[in-house]
Amino acid sequence: MIFIILLLLFLTSCVSGTFVVNVTQTSYQAEENQNITLEWTFSSRRDTSLRSISIVCEMFTEIRISVLFHLHQGVEFRESQDPQFAGRVQWDKDVLTEGRLTLHVSRLRTSDSGFYVCDILVKSDGRNSRRCWLNVTAAAEPTPLTQTVKPHQKIQGIIVLYIGLGISAVALLALMLSHDVS
Ligand SMILES: *[C@@H]1O[C@H](CO)[C@@H](O)[C@H](O)[C@H]1NC(C)=O
Ligand SMILES: *[C@@H]1O[C@H](CO)[C@@H](O)[C@H](O)[C@H]1NC(C)=O
Ligand SMILES: *[C@@H]1O[C@H](CO)[C@@H](O)[C@H](O)[C@H]1NC(C)=O
Repeated sequence: MIFIILLLLFLTSCVSGTFVVNVTQTSYQAEENQNITLEWTFSSRRDTSLRSISIVCEMFTEIRISVLFHLHQGVEFRESQDPQFAGRVQWDKDVLTEGRLTLHVSRLRTSDSGFYVCDILVKSDGRNSRRCWLNVTAAAEPTPLTQTVKPHQKIQGIIVLYIGLGISAVALLALMLSHDVS
């Protein structure tokens, strides 16, 4: 009995010990409306089949957890996807069996900022997870086409106008006086 338990412990530790999940980048930086590709790699064999792979990827923020990708035995299960990510997440079937999970997230929002965890399970190989960070900053404000006149510029203009008027009035007066003298 004890032998069986020890054997089971040994086997489970072997499975979780050899199955590795990595991230190609631990953090990503992007701007609003851009697209990004988040990538995870995992141990795979030459004969790893799509059907043997199940994945759940979630985004964690301080306030909530949302599912962005769910693959059940090789089939995408969109029902679990959070509406926040609806129609914005794409994956590559071809590279998945080679041990690469690539998630293309398009039209990024600042609310996509957080950490992303993918839990990958390959039947009879094992299961593991890894996380990466995504930081989406707001897009720069578009620059206005016409530059608006600032209030202090208006006042300066008015002062210049008055000074100008003043000088011409003095000049006119001087001209009139000089005519009177002569
Ligand atoms: C995971 O990363 C480690 C260290 O960078 C590397 O030795 C290992 O080969 C990687 N494994 C996979 C499956 O990418
Ligand atoms: C972002 O992805 C969307 C949908 O896949 C695509 O239509 C758009 O052209 C991409 N934009 C850029 C800048 O690559
Ligand atoms: C996100 O990026 C901005 C701009 O580079 C930076 O100021 C901010 O500290 C970053 N936030 C996190 C959580 O990394």
